[in-house]
Amino acid sequence: MSKGVSKRAEIVPPFIVMDVISAANEMEARGEKVIHCEVGQPSTSAPKGALAAAHAALDRDRIGYVEALGIPPLRERIARHYAQWYGVTLDPQRVVVTTGSSAAFLMAFLAAFDPGARVAMAAPGYPPYRNILAALGMVPVDIVTTEAERYQPTVPALAATGGGLAGLIVASPSNPTGTMVSRDEMAALSATCCERGMRLISDEIYHGLTFEERGVSALEVTDDAIVINSFSKYFSMTGWRIGWMVVPPALVRPIERLTQNLLISTPTLSQFAALAAFDCTEELEAHVRRYRVNRDLLLAGLPKAGFDHLTRPTGAFYLYADVAHLTNDSVDFCRRMLREAGVAATPGVDFDPQRGHRTLRFSFAGSTADMEEAVRRLTHWKR
Ligand SMILES: Cc1ncc(COP(=O)(O)O)c(C=O)c1O
Repeated sequence: MSKGVSKRAEIVPPFIVMDVISAANEMEARGEKVIHCEVGQPSTSAPKGALAAAHAALDRDRIGYVEALGIPPLRERIARHYAQWYGVTLDPQRVVVTTGSSAAFLMAFLAAFDPGARVAMAAPGYPPYRNILAALGMVPVDIVTTEAERYQPTVPALAATGGGLAGLIVASPSNPTGTMVSRDEMAALSATCCERGMRLISDEIYHGLTFEERGVSALEVTDDAIVINSFSKYFSMTGWRIGWMVVPPALVRPIERLTQNLLISTPTLSQFAALAAFDCTEELEAHVRRYRVNRDLLLAGLPKAGFDHLTRPTGAFYLYADVAHLTNDSVDFCRRMLREAGVAATPGVDFDPQRGHRTLRFSFAGSTADMEEAVRRLTHWKR
């Protein structure tokens, strides 16, 4: 028997954006100023109320293990959030607190799908969906979406996959395009999943970060979906590693057993902080206003710098650019853009293995001054 590396570990590809981040960090270590349009996280810390709650918890509590499904006050508060944001009445017993939405995906896939299960998702899309599925011995199925479809899966596109699917992942707003599905589209996708015996998984991590209409939760149209969310984006708490999911009643106990065995519980300090984050609306809404200003600034400025084929995002903090007229190698293009213009962006190959060599993603999660500087640098960049 050889002591090698497992096949499942071998097949998981790297996240290319991490290579861009290392190159940007190296330039900064040499004293050069880099404008960060590659990172998919808020440039702000956790809201003040969450920080204060964490300090108080450290003084008061021993921060031991807690319930595998999350501390009851947080599960109750999350259930109340659905009443406040969406008008949906939710039993807190269906809420599961997780170590970021990343652990929610892991637990949801393990609980809902068997090895070999085929699960569909939009391309371009968030890379870990397909990589987590593949690592678990499941089969990711890309739905190649078009600009006309606003890069979201549709009922006809789902039909065109040929069936035999166990699940569908929908992300609205999406990473990397910032596009959203309407209530009717969500209802139609949910009905199709129901007819075909498929599990709908709705990634709602960018809810709250929306610029025109609020995001529609799958829970508004069905009780049968797995809804995944996080404190990372709207609540500005990436490093606290805390998120949640809402699951149908039949999945609660299997997920509890899986969590007890795989993770024991979700970081306790983060749960106390997250509970307080719900009361920090004013601070968090100010971030959303800044993202909107940043989006509009890039939508107006980037075309003048030659990036004139942009997807107009209605949520999240990303702009997806078609750069086919500039390159057919987005990895090399991003490398040159970083080296020569000092602007870091993410090559599209991370999100769309087939077509991403002609696209890239700009994040506008940074400061407005940085977005202005990015436009200025790209306008003067002699490509
Ligand atoms: C669409 C989407 N889902 C999930 C995640 C994972 O976030 P976290 O594990 O921090 O909750 C991200 C992070 O960028 C994302 O963009």
